[in-house]
Amino acid sequence: MKNETAGEAFHAVVVTIFPELIEAVAAVGVFGRAVDRGLIQLETINPRRYTDDRHQTVDSKAYGGGPGMVMKVGPLRAALEEARRRCPKAKVVYLSPQGEPFTQGHAEACAELGEVILLAGRYEGIDQRVIERDVDVQWSLGDYVLSGGELPALVVLDAVARLRPGVLGDEGSAEAESFSAGLLDFPHYTRPEEVDGQRVPEVLLSGDHGAIAAWRQAQAEAVTQRQRPDLWARWQEQQQRAEKRKGSIGDGSHE
Ligand SMILES: C[S@@+](CC[C@H](N)C(=O)[O-])C[C@H]1O[C@@H](n2cnc3c(N)ncnc32)[C@H](O)[C@@H]1O
Repeated sequence: MKNETAGEAFHAVVVTIFPELIEAVAAVGVFGRAVDRGLIQLETINPRRYTDDRHQTVDSKAYGGGPGMVMKVGPLRAALEEARRRCPKAKVVYLSPQGEPFTQGHAEACAELGEVILLAGRYEGIDQRVIERDVDVQWSLGDYVLSGGELPALVVLDAVARLRPGVLGDEGSAEAESFSAGLLDFPHYTRPEEVDGQRVPEVLLSGDHGAIAAWRQAQAEAVTQRQRPDLWARWQEQQQRAEKRKGSIGDGSHE
């Protein structure tokens, strides 16, 4: 389908032995609409295509013994070479519990770059030689172990797609969400004004845009302080640094 915006589509290639999993989830909701509208170009490459045995084997026993199978170098390397041909600027990201924690910052950098190759592992993981030679970066979805990298790949794709121009109906939506400004999101309410004795805060019904903005900012700060003291400390440091910069510009002492 035709790209609705002047900008180029975001191009993602997922290397996975379960392409149907990626395609099914990516067909619905905000992401599915973005694909239909030509804002996202999503492709999958199955390493099984690059095998030459009858069973299309992509895994084998681990050297040194132990339980579980390991994904072989050959089919993965060939699939990644094809992915790089299609997406020459992209970083190759291996989704792995051993990676750096995936954050909004990674999503922003990825959206900006315009391309990504995501490698989803299965079994006990992938042969270390692929990580050493073919992977640029490893991202983890959290300190727990999943059965495969497909769900993490979908999480990354969803987070990135929301940041691309035209994907969200209201361009302000992504900016106002948790993490974008270093704080968690403020609380949201919709109709009716009262449910089972619970009322919408009066300020939101006031029509006073300044008061609403101030209330939302105060709520975002309060919720961040309460739920994520780590983010709150970082945000306060940022504010202090910004204040200092302002001060030094004001008194002419900056370089
Ligand atoms: C069963 S896991 C392998 C775990 C590996 N043996 C370990 O302990 O580090 C199979 C695949 O799921 C994916 N995976 C599992 N947990 C993940 C996480 N927290 N973040 C990102 N990917 C994950 C990776 O692609 C991995 O290759």
